[in-house]
Amino acid sequence: MKKTTIRSTGMFVPPNVVTNHDLEKIMDTSDEWIRQRTGIRQRYWINEECGASDLGAEAARMALAGAGWQPEDVDFIIFATLSPDIMFPGSGCLMAAKLGLDKTPVLDIRQQCTGFLYGLATADAYIKSGLAGRVLLVGGEVHSSGLDKSTRGRDVTVIFGDGAAAVCLEGVQTDEKVGLLASALHADGNHAGSLMAELPASRLLQRIPPGLSTDDPRYYPVMDGPAIFKKAVRMLPRVTNEALEKADIGLDEIDLVVPHQANKRINQAFGQFMKLDESKIFHNIEKYGNTTAASIPLALHEAMAQERVGKPGDTVLFVALGAGLTWGASIFRFF
Ligand code: UT7
Repeated sequence: MKKTTIRSTGMFVPPNVVTNHDLEKIMDTSDEWIRQRTGIRQRYWINEECGASDLGAEAARMALAGAGWQPEDVDFIIFATLSPDIMFPGSGCLMAAKLGLDKTPVLDIRQQCTGFLYGLATADAYIKSGLAGRVLLVGGEVHSSGLDKSTRGRDVTVIFGDGAAAVCLEGVQTDEKVGLLASALHADGNHAGSLMAELPASRLLQRIPPGLSTDDPRYYPVMDGPAIFKKAVRMLPRVTNEALEKADIGLDEIDLVVPHQANKRINQAFGQFMKLDESKIFHNIEKYGNTTAASIPLALHEAMAQERVGKPGDTVLFVALGAGLTWGASIFRFF
């Protein structure tokens, strides 16, 4: 049977670094508050017009070069984002064109923080069913142009960063227990309101309500941070156990956890609950903030570059919870 292997990874962030001290100058916040509550020291925000597809294309180019593939060698592209360049078409189509492609199929997905997990499960299903041999999976976000940069939006704005990351995935025939061993994915739209940006809204008779101030809070993401925090701390261990059970392996077989980087304290609490040694959990939120769909592949890229994971036999656990709500865990074994 074909199994999915990770051939290479790539990442890209825009050049403009925004430190916590920079944010102190535009809103009532402090470096100390942000570091203590989230672990973030800086993030990257675009400072010239640029969409998720542009960041994604750069990350994809790095991944393609690492795999030794030309863009034409890819059979299928999956692009995950909550911040598409424009309302439609999806950023995946725009990115593919920027890579010089004009017929490769593209699937845009909207699973926010779990975009990589849903994308990986979809890529694996395409590979296992024979629908695709080589898949390019990209997560990209430009949050900064849609954030409320006044004190009103500080709880949300300080945590989000722009960036993209990509992985080249390929099907390889093997009977070994390798590749994507299990995915446990969930969604509960009953809690959609706990993290959302409401406008523009197609469900309205006019999706951009006339007469509304452009500064209306509904244009900006709102988040019930404490509720999501509690939900994450409760659900991430549960979904991890579900994935371990599906993969039929024990937690002791996990070499590294590469979690969604939403808040360092969430991942530390997860580690404590699971009784995992701190060295087994990868963090890079301090440099990038929360890059949503890009966060897990960006962390994976750095974990592999630092040789924390990636050797044949290494087993990695990906976990995430975010807007939707969506949450999940995936277990991947390198070969
Ligand atoms: O990836 C998407 C999924 N999202 C998440 O996983 C986010 C999960 N939630 C969180 O990461 C945290 O809830 C936050 C970082 C968003 C907030 O941290 P918290 O420890 O839950 O703070 P809080 O919302 O309970 O607010 C505590 C205080 C409040 O002031 P009062 O009412 O105690 O006077 C806030 O107004 O902190 C205040 N506050 C801030 N102060 C300075 C909120 N944001 C800020 C800020 N700077 N940026």
